[in-house]
Amino acid sequence: MCGIVGYVGEKEAQGFLLSGLKRLEYRGYDSAGIVTLANDGKATLIRAKGKINNLEEKMAQNRHKDNIGIGHTRWATHGEPSETNAHPHKAGSIYVVHNGIIENYKELKKNLSQHEFVSDTDSEVLAALIESFYKDGKYPLINAVVQALKLVQGTYGVAVVSEKAPEEIIVARSGSPLVIGIGHDETLIASDASALVGHTKRAVYLNDGEVARLTKNSIEIKTLNAEPISAKVEEIETNLAAIQKGGYDHFLLKEIMEQPKSLTETLRGRINSKNHTVHLGGPGLSETELRKINHLIIVGCGTAYHAGLLAGYYIEQFTPEITIETVIASEYRYRNAYIPKDSVALIVSQSGETADTLACLREIKKQGIKTIGIVNAIGSTIAREVDGGTYVHVGPEISVASTKAFTSQAVAMVMFGLTIAQAKGVKSATLRPYIDEIARMPEEIGNTLEVVRPEIEKIAKKYAEYDHAIYLGRDTAYPTAMEGALKLKEISYVDANAYAFGELKHGPLALVDDRFFEMTLLPKGVLYDKVISNLQEVLARGGHVIAVTNVEDFDMPVESIVKITTDIEIFAPILMNLASQLFAYYMTVAKGYNVDQPRNLAKSVTVE
Ligand code: M6R
Repeated sequence: MCGIVGYVGEKEAQGFLLSGLKRLEYRGYDSAGIVTLANDGKATLIRAKGKINNLEEKMAQNRHKDNIGIGHTRWATHGEPSETNAHPHKAGSIYVVHNGIIENYKELKKNLSQHEFVSDTDSEVLAALIESFYKDGKYPLINAVVQALKLVQGTYGVAVVSEKAPEEIIVARSGSPLVIGIGHDETLIASDASALVGHTKRAVYLNDGEVARLTKNSIEIKTLNAEPISAKVEEIETNLAAIQKGGYDHFLLKEIMEQPKSLTETLRGRINSKNHTVHLGGPGLSETELRKINHLIIVGCGTAYHAGLLAGYYIEQFTPEITIETVIASEYRYRNAYIPKDSVALIVSQSGETADTLACLREIKKQGIKTIGIVNAIGSTIAREVDGGTYVHVGPEISVASTKAFTSQAVAMVMFGLTIAQAKGVKSATLRPYIDEIARMPEEIGNTLEVVRPEIEKIAKKYAEYDHAIYLGRDTAYPTAMEGALKLKEISYVDANAYAFGELKHGPLALVDDRFFEMTLLPKGVLYDKVISNLQEVLARGGHVIAVTNVEDFDMPVESIVKITTDIEIFAPILMNLASQLFAYYMTVAKGYNVDQPRNLAKSVTVE
């Protein structure tokens, strides 16, 4: 979603602002803007609708050597995407960039009649509110920002500069991330640490309720109630290679292909292949606490939710007397759900910033339930607020469509389930096949990707004219089918929906006709014969079936077959999902759409 960058130092601010905004492009946006201040306070405001290139062109005609500035990519919430609605917003000498939503902006606006509003945004109201306390430089800027924020209801990550104070940036956060980078005679800000990579490795993550005054060589942090906070400097672990395409045409393909490596990172130090056990340090639960868990609640959105569903199917296979409920965060946050006291909640999020997931985390914590994060982004809000956690360590995921995170989230949660089962004394003979297969998954993923990629590229071209798809699977292949359908719809705009194979004749079978193709996931296993009967029902009605299977002698008369050659059995659906990921990728390329930044979507959904 929206992105923020800022710079105060000795270099030209425009350079960092532009490169930083480009780094944040992946989050999704529809307009962008910057403001820089000269030493005498003279402001240069440049904004453009559409892609950063439009902004860049305008900047090229308006180069300035100013050493301080803030910038923003906007994902429209209040008001259409337009230059006037783009940030920074101005009120008097004040310029504001804002992520989040000011819920009471209409009410606040009523008392700001001295300001002539030009945009439809809630963020301009914030700018006018700050100016109303600043009184054109009569009071310190940080005081004006604090006074204004005390009246605000909603969420914000905010950066403010004033023509009257061209040596400082004021930043604050509540529910929308902000990280401060510490350089040599320069201080940088960004809503996502990836914008800082290559500039500094030293960062301070602002917490909710904190406000900071930044100059080129100082950072003063305090709470909105004026309590001083000492800055905790952390290291940014991401390197430049991790946020570049590395020879691939798209981040999505790079991220799909790097799954052998990313899963290796997820497993590192956590599996003991000699004695066939799993060890997760992060959750911080004792053996006694693990033994007492009788209920798992898994919370996530989109792909994270699907990973949770899949993990739930596995965990209940080997953990006795445990109930598992996987829930969609945006629904769960408003349910009046009872959570048994012997529960643990797994909070699943790649970005660690998803607003709905974060709201559930806070709600669940209030009920005294232990929360464990299954998070990728290090230092993210969810990672910091959970009681314990297991980072999946897949590295930055830039493409809006989540791929490598899914695989690692699912496996990490299964490993958490295995630690519960170990503590509950489940026989090693029961758990060993799971642990041994997990240990082999990175290699098997590598082999599968290599074998199926060329085949899937051909198949995808064949189906590129279709606009409707049905994804079908059963048991662990059902959540996998859901994930495959989500991938296809979000990037190739094909109307793809997943159904449990057994549900077909209860409704979806009516859809089968020449407008649809059916992507079927057919793993070996106890339900295989039943699934084949379901498949027959589709074929008998002239379905255009693609079969993804690990059955060597598969001989059903389907239109296209993707063979997964592996002796992995339990986790074969995860290998099948690689086929779905590649299929979505190549369909999108064939259709000519923007692979990494699909329309209307954002990478990190920080609004409700
Ligand atoms: O960062 P999160 O894992 O919390 O994000 C959750 C969803 O927004 C995300 O998985 C989304 O569904 C992806 N675009 C799917 O590819």
